[in-house]
Amino acid sequence: MPQKDVVDLSEDEARIELERLAAAIAAADIAYHQNDAPEISDAEYDALKQRNDALEEAFPELVRADSPKGKVGAAPAEGFAKVRHGAPMLSLAKAYSDQDVVDFIERGRRFFERDKDLELAFTAEPKIDGLSASLRYENGIFVRGATRGDGTVGEDITANLRTIEDIPERLAGSGWPEVIEIRGEVYMTYAEFQALKQRSAAIGGQDYVNPRNTAAGSLRQKDPSITASRNLKFFAYAWGLASSEPADSQFGAVQKFAEWGFKVSPLMVRAASADELIAHYRNIEAQRASLGYDIDGVVYKVDRIELQKRWGYVTGEPRWAIAHKFPAEQATSVVRAIDIQVGRTGTLAPVARLEPVTVGGVVVENVTLHNEDYIKGVDSKGEPIREGIDIRIGDSVVVQRAGDVIPQIVRVVLDKRPEGAVPYEFPQTCPVCGSPATREINPKTGKEDSRRRCTGELICPAQAVEGLRHFVSRGALDIEGLGAENIDLFFAKGLVRNAAEIFTLKDRRPEVQLALAERREEQARAREAASGRVRKNVRSVDERNFEGLDKLFAAIDARRQPELDRFIFALGIRHIGETTAAALARTFGTMEELIRVGKDVAAAADPIAAFPSVDGIGGTVIGALADFFGNERNDDVLEALLRQVQPQPYVLSIATDSQVAGKTVVFTGSLEKMTRSEAKAMAERLGAKVAGSVSAKTDILVAGPGAGSKLKSAQALGVEVISEDEWFERVGG
Ligand code: IVH
Repeated sequence: MPQKDVVDLSEDEARIELERLAAAIAAADIAYHQNDAPEISDAEYDALKQRNDALEEAFPELVRADSPKGKVGAAPAEGFAKVRHGAPMLSLAKAYSDQDVVDFIERGRRFFERDKDLELAFTAEPKIDGLSASLRYENGIFVRGATRGDGTVGEDITANLRTIEDIPERLAGSGWPEVIEIRGEVYMTYAEFQALKQRSAAIGGQDYVNPRNTAAGSLRQKDPSITASRNLKFFAYAWGLASSEPADSQFGAVQKFAEWGFKVSPLMVRAASADELIAHYRNIEAQRASLGYDIDGVVYKVDRIELQKRWGYVTGEPRWAIAHKFPAEQATSVVRAIDIQVGRTGTLAPVARLEPVTVGGVVVENVTLHNEDYIKGVDSKGEPIREGIDIRIGDSVVVQRAGDVIPQIVRVVLDKRPEGAVPYEFPQTCPVCGSPATREINPKTGKEDSRRRCTGELICPAQAVEGLRHFVSRGALDIEGLGAENIDLFFAKGLVRNAAEIFTLKDRRPEVQLALAERREEQARAREAASGRVRKNVRSVDERNFEGLDKLFAAIDARRQPELDRFIFALGIRHIGETTAAALARTFGTMEELIRVGKDVAAAADPIAAFPSVDGIGGTVIGALADFFGNERNDDVLEALLRQVQPQPYVLSIATDSQVAGKTVVFTGSLEKMTRSEAKAMAERLGAKVAGSVSAKTDILVAGPGAGSKLKSAQALGVEVISEDEWFERVGG
């Protein structure tokens, strides 16, 4: 939106704009801090704040009682107990240019002008893009942890923070103050974020937008074992209330934190001049992409605590510190096409194909458009989400990598919209199989799902091939030598059209051999073309592959009696991951029984009431089971499959007299005497229940070397922890 210069504004105009800014910033704060779902980019947010500051400076008499300046975040969300911080959690002033940094240091020099020989040194450290947390230690023991909230009052998330490995339960070393609030940032690594996204996609679960919001959501879980499963991290960088100062400098304090057992940023340095600070900023910026987690700037702080105190504070911010932000990495490109990808669970995922463009050193060609509403430019309530409205083919768009690895379209350049560009029409049928694609209504909320799904299920080739890949994947049937690449090939050649046909592949041996040989030939030719070298001694197609093929067929045969839980997981029923599959196997014992119950539930007026109560299985899973077993097409598929494979009945506790019978056990860390699945099978044979994560219901945690967050949760919950050897002693060899 074109903006008048502040000097050109009348008082009335300024008043109206200040009101609008206060509302917009408050709304953005709630979206970001309470809902973990930002509706505007950081750059846009900062622009609003800057404009507000400029207006307040020009019109001091118009500063509102609810001025956004000096306010930090938003009031705590409902649901957690409130905690008043011993000292407020502050925000930081921001620098957007080198000049802003020079000005900051100049202000410092002027402030301390009288002190002739004063050495004004600063620290420079990365600004981690996560959530700040305050951890209260009394006599070296972690007693309470809270979110920032509005800076004065946060939420009590102690149980969740206890699951984070980087947060010591007891401080190491010595010399800590009797009471101290350690402040720092909780964050999620890209690796953890991607792994979570994949796990969720595999069961058709929710989508995650970026590591920061996911970390926020993970910290606000009611069940700490969910937080534990997210493997969050923590860097300590400051402190609040302290019965005595931990050190006389920022640098010294952070060193102390490290001695006490915290992780601290390895990129912190001490420097005296603007040039040195800016040089370190460039240095950190250059490493940004390889850190493995998001940072959004560099924080400079006056090093000596005594000088910090003298320089003091303005509303909600220290004068003695500033955050030098990285510019948002943006570039403009053109949308060439919008493609729809169909996933295993039928989700139609739109992807914008862009003219390749470099954004922050990475070439971006494909950008997810999330869903239909997103393309239209509205959120789930129909409210606009971006300036420039909808995205059309031919549009010029601003692409941003805001530190996130995942590029996003933040704006459409409307001036450049080609004449005749029409709104994108989201397909109402599956582009792969032509079945109707619908938006489900969530029975709980009554709201339409943001994603459209293909209803073709297994008749949809896209879903079928994804389903086959899943069927042979590691947690499922795990067939050696039959990875995604071979599945794609056999599917494309019509040799395997459904899971049952994997087991009859042997009958089509000549065709399989030919398909494999042709692919090798193609690959070899492609390599030749790329390298310019020509192969010698080319063997005929028939001479190769015999041995490999026998092995493949043997591996397939070896899986004809899979464990029941693997088999259930392999079916790829929506919302049924490995843990849920295991719970179903344990409860129903045989596939026949699960089918019988599934059919009953599918026919029942109230599926949830018809389903027996099973730990860890709720409405979503029951609904998915009803859908699956209520769909006649799946009957044929299952029948054909069960003619080929015989899932082993789940053996319920043979031993009821063992020491672990009836106990819930969790294994973690690396086990040395048995594999994880052996451990599980053994425990279950002895009548124990094996869980994937630690909760209040866990009785025993068997922890091998390298045990991490599960060990921490167990300790936090007072669960008995034993070693692998102790486990063997207990179960008698
Ligand atoms: S110091 C007195 N250091 O940035 C200053 N903050 O905009 C207290 N942040 O709420 C904060 N990395 O969430 C400080 N190395 C760092 C930081 C950092 C990230 C966050 C923190 C704070 C926000 C202020």
